[in-house]
Amino acid sequence: MGYENIIADKRGAVGIVTLNRPKALNALSAGLIADLGKALDDFEADAEIGCIVVTGSEKAFAAGADIKEMAGFSYMDAYKRDFITDGWERLAQCRKPVIAAVAGYALGGGCEIAMMCDFILAADTAKFGQPEITIGTMPGAGGTQRLTRFVGKSKAMEMCLTGRMMDAEEAERAGLVSRVVPAAELVDEAIKTAERIASMSKPVTMMTKESVNRAYETTLTEGVRFERRLFHSTFATADQKEGMAAFVEKRKPAFKDE
Ligand code: CAA
Repeated sequence: MGYENIIADKRGAVGIVTLNRPKALNALSAGLIADLGKALDDFEADAEIGCIVVTGSEKAFAAGADIKEMAGFSYMDAYKRDFITDGWERLAQCRKPVIAAVAGYALGGGCEIAMMCDFILAADTAKFGQPEITIGTMPGAGGTQRLTRFVGKSKAMEMCLTGRMMDAEEAERAGLVSRVVPAAELVDEAIKTAERIASMSKPVTMMTKESVNRAYETTLTEGVRFERRLFHSTFATADQKEGMAAFVEKRKPAFKDE
């Protein structure tokens, strides 16, 4: 399907969404968010897809919500459409694993959608920030909450209050990104990582994602109980039988996603 603001590609079992508003540094307009939502719907419905990569350009993953689009909003405009929940949270609701491959600027809403993904692979050129304060507003797509969970209160507070950007090295040190790779290798590395994830039992990757995410929503006791229930349920899958048989027989497993 053709989109105006993104490019959606399928490479084997990997779905790739490239944010594509180069003239606006991939600013997240309502149209772009709608396109992203549709692409995610398609990839979620496609049984072949086991992992999704969301990426931008060399210069910008995304430079935030579209300032020109929202500059004139009234309180009622924002309130009635529940701006910024309208469509944005689709990414956070995705059940299949999603990797953000970030080069260049990931600012404001750009940093926030990267954090909605399951993990962030960063190019050595990546720059993360929540600069909303410098334009008289504040993060509105989860930045104050998710950034704080990733990097702790002190760094999150400093970044949200000053708008200071974090480079890739600091982001890795602080736990915001899982790995930093040379910019030229970013997309290939993200796809390679996504292919590895997609080669596992797809339902089990989804359960694993659900369980890790639960760590942010509940107490340790309840989280461990939740994990145990899902862990037990994996023994009802054909893929657990196949995976363990393959280990014992010293061969590669052939998962059927059942
Ligand atoms: N919205 C709309 N347009 C944007 C944009 C944004 N967030 N970011 C960049 N652009 C546009 C610029 O207006 C410019 O367009 P024109 O050529 O038509 O003037 C084009 O993209 C290129 O940008 P610059 O000329 O500014 O490029 P630069 O290399 O000099 O600077 C930058 C790059 C530092 C990222 C700078 O563009 C910038 O500061 N952008 C805004 C960052 C920001 O404040 N983001 C937060 C937005 S609010 C938000 O996201 C709310 C939320 O929580 C969801």
